[in-house]
Amino acid sequence: MLGEKMEEALNGQLNAELYSAYLYLSMSAYYHSINLFGFANWMRVQWAEELKHALKFFDYIAENGRVLPRPVEVPPREWDSALAPFEVAYAHEQKVTGLINSLVELATSQGDEVTRDFLQWYVDEQVEEEESASEAVEKIKAAADSTEELDRLDQEFGQRK
Ligand code: FEO
Repeated sequence: MLGEKMEEALNGQLNAELYSAYLYLSMSAYYHSINLFGFANWMRVQWAEELKHALKFFDYIAENGRVLPRPVEVPPREWDSALAPFEVAYAHEQKVTGLINSLVELATSQGDEVTRDFLQWYVDEQVEEEESASEAVEKIKAAADSTEELDRLDQEFGQRK
């Protein structure tokens, strides 16, 4: 069974993952609105990734304690350039890495080895999450001055599955 503090913190992270999903879905909607459909696809795939992260927390909490749903904050809806959402995404992933690290510290301080092991998947996943957002930021920066390059990148982002 999860300790009270650990259960509370994991429920908080479940909420944070659901917020991440909603944030990326909002970014997908923004890209649709400016006709960058490949960018919209990239964000929609990321939305699905975040749902996977959330469900993994859901299952773990449900199996070892109690899931207690909370309201999910409404994400921003507007950005001022094709680059901006990806910069926000990168900063967001860095923040999530910090949240996961705090959970690891809590599990360690509580002597909860099982949860500590469970969290290792997220520790590894966050390395990839930060890398893919940061790589996308660099690609957009490199393409930003040319409509042709931006179209090519939009096609590339449209391939993400
Ligand atoms: Fe669930 Fe993008 O980290």
